[in-house]
Amino acid sequence: MPFSRIADSIGASATLALNAEAARLRAAGEPVIHLGGGEPKSRAPESAVTAGIAMLETGEVRYSPASGTPEMKDAVVAYTERFYGRKPERTQVLASAGCKQAIMVALIALVDPGDEVVYPVPYWVSYPDMVRLTGGVPVEVRAADGSCQPTLDEMAAACGPRTKAILLNSPNNPSGGVFDQDFMRGMVKLCEERGIHLLMDDIYHRLVFDGRQAIHGWDFTDRDLDDTPLVVLNGVSKMYAMTGFRIGWAVGPRALIKAMGNIQSHQTGGPSTLAQKAAVASIHGQQDSVDELRVTLEKNRDVLLGLVREIPGLKVERPQGTFYCFADFSAFDKDCARLAAYLLDKVQVVTVPGVEFGMPGYLRLSYCGPVEDAREGARRIAWALDKNGPAEYRVGDRVFTR
Ligand SMILES: Cc1ncc(COP(=O)(O)O)c(C=O)c1O
Repeated sequence: MPFSRIADSIGASATLALNAEAARLRAAGEPVIHLGGGEPKSRAPESAVTAGIAMLETGEVRYSPASGTPEMKDAVVAYTERFYGRKPERTQVLASAGCKQAIMVALIALVDPGDEVVYPVPYWVSYPDMVRLTGGVPVEVRAADGSCQPTLDEMAAACGPRTKAILLNSPNNPSGGVFDQDFMRGMVKLCEERGIHLLMDDIYHRLVFDGRQAIHGWDFTDRDLDDTPLVVLNGVSKMYAMTGFRIGWAVGPRALIKAMGNIQSHQTGGPSTLAQKAAVASIHGQQDSVDELRVTLEKNRDVLLGLVREIPGLKVERPQGTFYCFADFSAFDKDCARLAAYLLDKVQVVTVPGVEFGMPGYLRLSYCGPVEDAREGARRIAWALDKNGPAEYRVGDRVFTR
């Protein structure tokens, strides 16, 4: 029986195969180092845990309104006021099952089959398939200079009459890059002039290093939230280490938010009330855990970056945020999926091939785990790539050989 064209157009992630192999090795007691992860390993904030338990103990966990509980929307209003300096109305807020769902319903609300959605390369792995799920056409914008950030002109040149939305993610997964003021100002102007929706995936916006801050699109418009095509997409997953709670949100023009809520009402209904309760508590509670996480990640970045930069032939920009480091390994193997498989096989280090993010020749190395993993992973990679190095690499009783 044939499946739909959409189902046939969606690929399985190459990362899954690597993860499955890593899990198999780990189950067999092998000393696998996972630099492929996408979630902080710290505990969720105490406020979230306590609020979740308290609700669970009532034994009354009911349906949520499709676009989120009023309490959750108020928390997002307060969050937006505090961290973006804008105060939306409740009707300009939608709560979803993760930032991913918020992005997906925004795309469904905006894109007709054949419409285009533009985003820079490298991009988050899910963007192309999310656009395809709507029947839309993904338009990838690659920097002519080979860097990880296309220019404003390159972005503008990719937009045509069928462009419905531009998707921007800053700080960026996988590069860790943060868009600068001129770029953001230009993108907002372009989108307002041409009536293109600017979907800002801000999921890492508080995980920015070196005393810097993420630049927000709203800073470059005086228009009311209803009159600008900007939509902020965010959530508790990364900053509060609450990935499994599955709570994200969108803030934008109320007509779009309403359409998104209608779609969500038939898709999943409202997000879990239990998880919303915990998310509300994390937003209103102490924010120390976010600061602690950022400081830890910054230290991990420095350790990993310091070690990988010593590998001759490897090129890497200093990540300004997130918990990823995106390095050009093409001097060793232009086929990064093959290189990732080699590193897993040779020294049991899991990485993510850059081709998944639109940049073959690169590998994404994550430093959201323990700093020892970042250190040990980088050392093993250096050994595996050094053809003239020692014949053996020892980890306790385990000996890797060439
Ligand atoms: C760039 C980006 N956007 C969105 C998400 C999804 O976030 P959530 O877990 O809240 O759905 C991720 C998760 O890896 C991400 O890296």
